[in-house]
Order: sequence, then C-alpha cells, then structure tokens
Amino acid sequence: KILILDFGSQYTQLIARCIRELNVYCEIQPCLSPVVLDSSIKGIILSGSPFSVNDPQAPKVDIKELASQVPVLGICYGAQHMAQYFGGEVAKSNHREYGRAIMEHQDKEEALFYDISEKSQVWMSHADTITRLPEAFEIIAHTGSIPVAAFKCKTLTQYPIFGLQFHPEVTHSLEGKQILRNFLVHICKMSQDWTPAAFVQETIARIQQEVGDKKVVMALSGGVDSTVAAELIHKAIGSNLYCIFVDNGLLRKDEFESVLDSYKHMGLNVKGINAKDMFYGELNGVTDPETKRKIIGRLFIEVFQQEANELKDISFLGQGTIYPDVIESVSVNGPSATIKSHHNVGGLPEKMNMKLVEPLRFLFKDEVRRVGKEIGISDIFLARHPFPGPGLAIRILGEITPEKVALLQEADAIYIDGLKESGLYNQVWQAGTILLPVQSVGVMGDERTYEFTVALRAVTSTDGMTADWAHLPYEFLAKVSNDIINKVKGINRVVYDISSKPPATIEWE
Ligand code: XMP
Repeated sequence: KILILDFGSQYTQLIARCIRELNVYCEIQPCLSPVVLDSSIKGIILSGSPFSVNDPQAPKVDIKELASQVPVLGICYGAQHMAQYFGGEVAKSNHREYGRAIMEHQDKEEALFYDISEKSQVWMSHADTITRLPEAFEIIAHTGSIPVAAFKCKTLTQYPIFGLQFHPEVTHSLEGKQILRNFLVHICKMSQDWTPAAFVQETIARIQQEVGDKKVVMALSGGVDSTVAAELIHKAIGSNLYCIFVDNGLLRKDEFESVLDSYKHMGLNVKGINAKDMFYGELNGVTDPETKRKIIGRLFIEVFQQEANELKDISFLGQGTIYPDVIESVSVNGPSATIKSHHNVGGLPEKMNMKLVEPLRFLFKDEVRRVGKEIGISDIFLARHPFPGPGLAIRILGEITPEKVALLQEADAIYIDGLKESGLYNQVWQAGTILLPVQSVGVMGDERTYEFTVALRAVTSTDGMTADWAHLPYEFLAKVSNDIINKVKGINRVVYDISSKPPATIEWE
C-alpha cells in the first residue's frame, strides 16, 4: 500500500481517491502519528498543508528515516518540507500562485514524467515557494513563474525522493493522475491490482479468519453501507450472521416491508421488528430537535440490545462504518490531531462487550457502491439517497404524531416517485419532504381549507458536508405540488427550499 501522511491539506482525501482510482490501495494517517514502516508500505506521500514550513508550529517528519525504506513524494507543503529539511530555503512568494499554470519538463527519461506532455497544465495553490534547493536536488520541471515546479534527489537518502509544487490530485492538473501513476508504478514498483473484485476476495477471507465459527449480529438500516457490509459478512460466514431491521415508525412509506422483502431475497437472515408504538410513545409531546435525536438513538439501542441478548453466544457486532467516518484529519488550528470518531450505532460496542466487524472501514462511499455492484447488490440499495438515522422525526418540525407521519409519508412518496419517474432521482444527491408546523388558508372548489404546508428539499452534493439546492425544473415542481395538494388531504400548500449548505443544513432539524 501507499501511505499518505496528512499535513492538513483540503486535498488529502483527493490524493487518496486518485490513487485508489488507479487501483492501488492507500491509507491516510495524520502526519504526527508514528509511522510503522512495515513491508506492506511501498511508498509514502506527504500532503499539502495550511501551514507555512516557516511557522514555528509547522508539523515536520523525519524524511530521511521515511526514505530509508521506500520512495517518498512530497506535494506542495510536502515538497517544501523536503527542500527545507535538507538545507534549502522556502520563502513567501513575491506573487502568490493560485490556479492554472503550465509545467514544462525536458528530460524524456524522467520516470515521474513518462507520457507527460512537455508542456502540461497543472494546478497551483501556494503562498510560499522554494527559493533555494539543496545542492544534491535536481530540478525536473518549472513553470513560467517559478523555477522549481518539481524536483528529485537520489543521493541523500536510500530511496529516491520527489517533490511537486503543484497538486497532481486535482482534475485541473490535466495529466496529474498519470504523474501519480508514474510514481506508483515506475518508482514504487507497484502493480495496479487493487480492484473491487480483489477487495471482496480479501475481505471475505479476512472476515472468515477473524470471526471463525463465531456469530455476528448486525443492525440494518436499508442504506447502502449497512447493506453492503452485511452482504460481505454473509458471504464470509453465511447463516452465522444475524441481522436486525427495526421499524421505528419513522421510515418512508412502505419502506419497512419493501426493504425487508429485498433483504430476504438476498438470502440474509433478517429479523424485522415492529417498534413503532414504543418510538411514538416516547416521542409524544417532544418538539426539541436534539431531544428527538437522543430519544431515538437511545430507543434504538434498547431494542437492538434486547434482540441481541435473545440470540445466544454472539461475539461480534457488524457495522457499516466507512472511511470518512474514521479518518483522523490534522486540525488546521494546530498540529495536534483532531479525531473524528463515529459509530453507525453509537454507544453499542462499548455497552455490549462485543468485538467489531467493519468490512467497509477503509472505503469511500463511491467505492462501497462499486463493491456492492461487484457482489450483485441491487440498485434498489446502491442508488438510494442517504436517509438520516432519526428518519422522518427530523422532517416533522415540532411534535410528532402517527397522523403527521402518515401525512408526510404520502406527500414524500409522491415527490420521490415523481423524481424517479422523471429521471431526476439519480441527478440529485438527496431529496426529501418536510412537514412544517404551520397551517394556512386555501380554497378547494368552493370550500375554504386550513391545512398544513410541506417543503420539498433536493440538493446536489458530493459528501453532504456542503450542498447546493438542486435546480429542479419548474414543470416538475408544478406537477408534484399539484399532485400533493390534490391527493393528500391535510396539505394545501407546497414550497421549495432554495437554501444551500452552508449556511443552511440539508435537514431542517
Ligand atoms: P445536515 O442536515 O447536517 O445533514 O446538513 C448532512 C447529511 O447527514 C444526514 N444526517 C444524518 N444521518 N443520522 C444519520 O445517520 C443523523 O442523525 C443525521 N442527521 C443528518 C442528512 O440526511 C444528510 O445526508
């Protein structure tokens, strides 16, 4: 594998994705955690950083030590750190360089630049620049405005080191991916054999080894992650996997039945549990969003725990945790690492004294989908929009009642079915309907109405961290609005949410 040391750049995850798209496995690690240089590591990449190498608190690593085992590539800050480490100089640039630049290189034999045009567009984003290179370093590319766009050195360390001032991982560096490929294939001598099929095979073998003939229990949500994770575990240990799918009364219309049915078709050993009344009972009269979330989280654990206790001799808990949930990223405000820890089912592992099985722990969302496709999981699961754990509870503003849930489910089904029928469902990242706690006056036929309002929400996004409201066609919105008001008694007004995140959030609560 390739190890990426994260110095806090906004692009670190992009480096990882780019390398994995080249079918090479890599992992990200905070730059300050100790590096264990075992034989699985074939190369190291130092990321960019919001720091200047001249900041007193700038994070530093022992480059000589790293390059005593494997080739090292520094990107942006990583390259400047290398230059400074070996006695060169880095200073504020006269003009900051952001955006497109043309990199020029001449040496056709240079392995890092095999198959790269002599003049190639790259993406720069740096305020500092390397003003003096250590003597043993060799410039291998420049741009019109900076002399050192790329360098290498083969004499100061056991393995060669390379530095790139630009960002090969962003798509605006038109041949950046090929440069990274050259580093992996020609310099680190890696083969591009990390494919979904290889991942599936390795993972199944690893689960078999880890779990043996012990039993695993797992909560399913109907979402992509838990479904793919369960199917992988199922392929590994068969009927020793026990799944639980809880109806909290806050799912979409008919979702519980249809998802349970799909799971059974997949051959999963799933117990569906109807816990609606318990959830409605405890949520009765509660209006505060955070209190709703806490109640739902707690009840879920209670229901799950009770069911798991009834199954005897369970040693493992399966979870669909994915890589963005576990990556520890370097804080921008200081070299100390901030750790984002997240469990799909928060609190469960600690309480239940079970070991975790998390087959997707090192995958990004798009990789989970590719693995899902590889093992034959239906598009019903793979193409599904994200849906929050607390479900419709955070899409019913104010108090939750079974009647309001039913009202919202009807309106939401019309909206989501409409998106699917018009081919718009796959063009948005997430869509949903929100029931507002306001009633307003309308007129239907000759009758005055005084009913609820729903808001339609649809966003485009890549990770849910930021999002833009989706510019759905007016004709589509007009039809959905008309259908909802005509078909759902109790709703007489439909509005469309045109707020982006930030400053709004995707969910309303
Ligand atoms: P926000 O509202 O924070 O949502 O912009 C970002 C994404 O996270 C989902 N979301 C949740 N998912 N449990 C979940 O599993 C939750 O409590 C939760 N709250 C928000 C939301 O649907 C969106 O995709």
